Amino acid sequence: MNTTSKLVIKNARIVNEQQIVETDLLIQGKYITKIGKGISSTSADQVYDAEGKYIIPGLIDDQVHFREPGLTHKACIETESKAALAGGITSFIEMPNTQPQTTTQSEWDQKNKRAEETSFANYAFMFGGTNDNLDEILALDNKRVPALKLFLGSSTGNMLVDNPEVLKSIFSSTSLVIAVHCEDEQTIRENTKTAQEKYGDQIPISEHPFIRSEEACYLSSSQAVALAKETGARLHVFHVSTAKELALFRNDIPLKDKKITAEVCTHHLWFSSEDYTEKGTHIKWNPAVKTKEDRAALWEGLNSDLLDVLATDHAPHTLEEKNQTYLKAPSGGPLVQHALPALLTSYHKGKLSLEKLVEKACHNPAILFDVKQRGYIREGYFADLVVLDIEKEFIVNKDELLYQCGWSPFEGTLFKGAVERTMLNGHWAYANGKVNPISAAEALTFDRE
Ligand code: DOR
Repeated sequence: MNTTSKLVIKNARIVNEQQIVETDLLIQGKYITKIGKGISSTSADQVYDAEGKYIIPGLIDDQVHFREPGLTHKACIETESKAALAGGITSFIEMPNTQPQTTTQSEWDQKNKRAEETSFANYAFMFGGTNDNLDEILALDNKRVPALKLFLGSSTGNMLVDNPEVLKSIFSSTSLVIAVHCEDEQTIRENTKTAQEKYGDQIPISEHPFIRSEEACYLSSSQAVALAKETGARLHVFHVSTAKELALFRNDIPLKDKKITAEVCTHHLWFSSEDYTEKGTHIKWNPAVKTKEDRAALWEGLNSDLLDVLATDHAPHTLEEKNQTYLKAPSGGPLVQHALPALLTSYHKGKLSLEKLVEKACHNPAILFDVKQRGYIREGYFADLVVLDIEKEFIVNKDELLYQCGWSPFEGTLFKGAVERTMLNGHWAYANGKVNPISAAEALTFDRE
């Protein structure tokens, strides 16, 4: 859409800032310029009647793995960003465990350049901390980097940061948000050894939540929280998966004042350890999907604001890789196309309100990472919007998957609630089941001093 074009959206039922309001929207160029009833469409270039549909701000997914560079046999920025648009995710923040890892300024610059050339959704890239790149971290331009990512437990990509002195230096010296993967390595090693003694190399997948156990999660996340308290660091704990960890977080202060925040992912809210029998290694994630009781506690933690952000941790691997035995199958799975339909289905089951969904998946990532002019439906903000048909039922079908890896842990699942259209920077980026071949993606920018 050019800078002068005018699009009027009529009769939108917008879910935004804790309210559901029926209104019209005027989109001029990239921006929402007016919100109100009775906006005239006489001089509009385009009118879209959203009668019967809900419109929410585009989701900002604060944790995805798009595998580029180096792991492009699994996925790439182009394919996964298209899948994200089909799933209502207009902005993504991508992780540094690629090959090479995003742990130097030059690798970070190259990733951004690749995204500028090929991404279909708005993008930003976390910088990876290691045991020996403190100088690089301190030289970062904090206005351009969304956050620092530290693996405090090893996962895909071998990026474990396990030197306590280094950790303390990083926590003490950066003003960036430090996003952490928390699972205690020693505990996992011991649990794996015990399982191997019992099962040899035929460990059943049902052992995964006992190997990557509640204790492994709690030990690591409680140490990270203690270090953040000691050093005053700004900590964000990724993919909380257990009830026990919820005690580490607070809900008695507003998000903007929190120094320690937490994220929960769709798969930990959807699946439980009972699903390993049917889904096998396709639901092998780090951290592991845990018990039904943990899942229920995560829903409570989300609704009571102990958990601040809803994300995907989209982490595709090929089907061939995933279909290996427990120890060989990598952890992770593709999620960006179906996280929102899963959440809408959960809304119909009474698990969360639409207002809460929007708060956690759209507003809060914008607050937490200081994302400029996105995450809300507001005049002067970018027109990143998702049109939802919340009554539409559909079964996840292999033929409709946009992921390069061509499989989904949700195949065969009946969802209620679908993405009808996605607008990115004022441009219909996804409609009628198709991604627009012209990309309108931009780099995210951050409102920071
Ligand atoms: O299951 C996971 N897969 N968890 C992670 O933290 C990393 C991810 C991946 O990159 O494969």
